[in-house]
Amino acid sequence: MDDNRKAEPCLLVIFGASGDLTKRKLVPALYELYRGGFLPEPFAMLGISRSDIGDEGFRRKMKESCQGVEGFSEASWGDFEGKLFYHAGDATDYEQMPSIRERIQALSKEQATGDNLLFYLSLAPQIYEKVITNLGMSGMILEGKRWCSLQRDAMPWQRVIVEKPFGHDLESAAHLNRVLGRTFDDESIYRIDHYLGKETIQNLMVFRFANAIFEPLWNRQYVDNVQITAAETVGVEGRGGYYEQSGAMRDMIQSHLLQVMATVAMEAPNSFAASELRNEQRKVLEAIGPIDPDRVSEHAVRGQYGRGKIGDEERIAYLDEEGVAADSNTETYAALRVTVDNWRWQGVPFYLRTGKSMQRKLTQIVIYFKETPHFIFKHHDGKAMDRPPNRLVINVQPDEGISMRFEGKVPGQGMRMKSAVMDFDYTSQFGGEIPEAYSHLLLDAMLGDQSLFKDRHEIEAAWRIVMPVLRHWENNPRHNMYTYPSGSWGPEEAEALFRRGHWHNPEGQITRWRKDA
Ligand code: BG6
Repeated sequence: MDDNRKAEPCLLVIFGASGDLTKRKLVPALYELYRGGFLPEPFAMLGISRSDIGDEGFRRKMKESCQGVEGFSEASWGDFEGKLFYHAGDATDYEQMPSIRERIQALSKEQATGDNLLFYLSLAPQIYEKVITNLGMSGMILEGKRWCSLQRDAMPWQRVIVEKPFGHDLESAAHLNRVLGRTFDDESIYRIDHYLGKETIQNLMVFRFANAIFEPLWNRQYVDNVQITAAETVGVEGRGGYYEQSGAMRDMIQSHLLQVMATVAMEAPNSFAASELRNEQRKVLEAIGPIDPDRVSEHAVRGQYGRGKIGDEERIAYLDEEGVAADSNTETYAALRVTVDNWRWQGVPFYLRTGKSMQRKLTQIVIYFKETPHFIFKHHDGKAMDRPPNRLVINVQPDEGISMRFEGKVPGQGMRMKSAVMDFDYTSQFGGEIPEAYSHLLLDAMLGDQSLFKDRHEIEAAWRIVMPVLRHWENNPRHNMYTYPSGSWGPEEAEALFRRGHWHNPEGQITRWRKDA
């Protein structure tokens, strides 16, 4: 992030403040911004939820979760927590809006944050519409603002950050977009995807568009296939209720992974302006070939984790998790093969997969390059030597970095080849901490920079891609629902998505290279 950025004073109002996200991600991100000197001055945060815990109770809870943050100190926390406030209220109930508004106004005055308001909706998706409508009717979103663009810079702003899941399907996402549009203008809506806030995803743009050497290779002529993996070791961890309504395809692929893919595949934008970036990303999503509803199983594989072991830890099966129906059809693993029907990527398969309770926490983009057109190295007996393809691995997390595999000659008499790896590692190269995605995105929203947020068209395009798969799965509840052992890389059946090649799993499998189906 640009170290000189400083946002105007504002009050951040989080709806759903007693939820997991506020304590696990949002407040630690604010604390990180505070310690780095990035928070606006003055700044305050108001958490709103139904439970009656008061300012002090809220601060205590937040402190517990921030104590684990690297660099935590009592002294800095002591000052920071004075910026956190709490109000017990229910924003789905219109009757309560006057008291919520009163608290917001009183706090803005008391903390001298002015009239700039940043609302964060961290709520169950079913209640988004009510809360947005109530906000619209509360009088807090300045009337006529959208018509006053000439004076816009001089006016206080009210923005809204909308957390995922953004809709449950294409129809509900489009509806939510319309509901938001009734209260907020487009420039005030920040649809968050925290993957876009990850350093490594932003670096992908620098890697591609600030270097002349990679871009010429970044197309169908040189790339054989692209794989994007987001594997997690965690199971559903008490989120069974939410997860049962969602599943891996909605929770990760429709949102994060398709967005990452759009960043990998997009054309170079004319500038780094939000509209340019989003436009290019949207074009990729819109170019993804529609999945034939009658051939879904050739494009998508799903699974549920069974019992198993991750390291030394015994893990239970998904169906035995709390809050999960014993006959649940919700997938905890999903893999998808898509193509981008445009000039650059015609015929190059993109493979996306994600799963819970897998062997390792790992988010990775792997680009497999094509073989050399002619190969001259042979063994004594005349047989051609193995020639593993060149491979570029972008580690999104953990061990953030990039590595390139190529072939080298093993020193000594005769000609022997072996794969070698050239590594770039963030920490050893640049040092320092890698900022949390949420801190970057929260600051961007305060600054009014929408570059790393999605627009309505991207959201709807991503839903359009996965809808045939979701419908097919819903209509055939147990058909091809594979169980994979916890601690594995998912169901083996996912290999069948490949016509050439295989999934790149960091342990094992890297030398097997299947040429034909
Ligand atoms: C969230 C999903 O959006 O992303 C979670 O709802 C998932 O299920 C999480 O665990 C993964 O995020 P990260 O940053 O840990 O890869």
